[in-house]
Amino acid sequence: MPNRKKQLIILTSGGDAPGMNPALRAAVRCWLHKNASDKGEKNSYIVIAAKNGYNGIINWDVSERVKTSGVGGLLARGGTVIGAGRCENLKEGGSFERSYIKEKLDSIRNDLAGLIVIGGDGSFRGMKEILLDECQVRTIGIPATIDNDIWGTDLSLGVDTALNTNVELIDKIRDTAAAFRRSFVVEIMGRNCGYLALATAIATESEALFLPEDETSFPRLGRIKRNLDDLFEHKILDTVVIVAEGAKLKLPTIENILQTYTKWEIRSVVPGYTQRGGSPSGIDRILGCRFAWKAVKGLKEPLKGPYAKVVTLRGINIELDNNLDNIIKNSGKNSKIEDDNYRKMKNLQWDLSSYCTPLGNNIGNSLLVIHGPDAPGINAAIRAYTRIAMKMKIGAKFTGFRTIAVRRGLEGLADLFLQDNDFIELDWEKTTGFSYTGGVPSNLSQLYNIEPIHAGPRDWLKKK
Ligand code: F6P
Repeated sequence: MPNRKKQLIILTSGGDAPGMNPALRAAVRCWLHKNASDKGEKNSYIVIAAKNGYNGIINWDVSERVKTSGVGGLLARGGTVIGAGRCENLKEGGSFERSYIKEKLDSIRNDLAGLIVIGGDGSFRGMKEILLDECQVRTIGIPATIDNDIWGTDLSLGVDTALNTNVELIDKIRDTAAAFRRSFVVEIMGRNCGYLALATAIATESEALFLPEDETSFPRLGRIKRNLDDLFEHKILDTVVIVAEGAKLKLPTIENILQTYTKWEIRSVVPGYTQRGGSPSGIDRILGCRFAWKAVKGLKEPLKGPYAKVVTLRGINIELDNNLDNIIKNSGKNSKIEDDNYRKMKNLQWDLSSYCTPLGNNIGNSLLVIHGPDAPGINAAIRAYTRIAMKMKIGAKFTGFRTIAVRRGLEGLADLFLQDNDFIELDWEKTTGFSYTGGVPSNLSQLYNIEPIHAGPRDWLKKK
């Protein structure tokens, strides 16, 4: 028998994250619509929103009957309209607070289908210790934290919006950096997890990165100094150094060291809480809806008794993970160390940002063809392709491939033997800045006095 109890309590807890409001909106609507239309029992299903996280249940500070219309317009709103909160007393035992929660939930137990807790690892610990073990109620967690440090989900709500905020900010910082030939050290939030810093570094072509997951910062510091010096020697105009909030070396130390030991003039920026705010990105809006839909379904499972589960994104699938102990144990502190994809992303960041001198002529060539219409991201792919090809190893032997871009897509390739100027050699320096240019790299023509690459005409293949 599916769960026929009719009351749902929702709370948002821990640090606010863009995407919490879309999840709240979708949970309310799924709960009310799905149940009402299933049974024709309109109005008997109820959503109670507890304000400021667990504090709302302790003090019974709640919105009693949240309506479908009451959550209109929330997709585009950052933060959380029902307030978030960290309840320090609960973390440190909080026997009074726990007994208030139990008393309250006991009093509505007969009607209570369960709770949806939207938050991070601290909120999930509360789910386990208080809601499941002590109160014996059903709970589903929705991961929401810009730190993206929840084990078992590829993404948590908020991290994509925070990444977009950082990209916009660092693109702006680069303007001043290039105008004054400076290096900017930027501190990125994430508590003890480096995910947001790493993603920001890759997306902004940052030239150096310090993460909490690095075993030790000193050998890394040496490599980073050499790289920054190389970039200076090769007339690169601006560099960005990302320092994760939880990195072992802190921003002021790194700033001092780089100012003293590299040729760059150093400035620093701490974007801080701007990373937590703002209208949720498209990804966070969709993810909020999908997570909430799964959470509502999860509460209606035909299982007996209480349980606590967390919704997760794995690849493109939304799943319900019932191993809460595991999630709690592996979330938070340096949670990504064991993650193979994370290690690959770290290596990629270093490969793409460490300088490589142009390869000689007696080396393999690889051809790069762009066909079809332009799309944002093509340039970032060209940059990555070129730089990885330059550093490619075959067996133990370093070879490296020169990247020859072919202008005019497949049409250009077909003309290959007819027009020499359809070949353009790309290298490390020429691909600098590609990630923050849209379309295909036509700006190459102005910067390097070479012709634009151009994508091939869309209908060329059809004609053949
Ligand atoms: O968990 C999100 C986060 O913004 C972390 O990145 C940061 O360390 C922490 O919260 C800041 O917490 P508070 O809002 O309590 O200052």
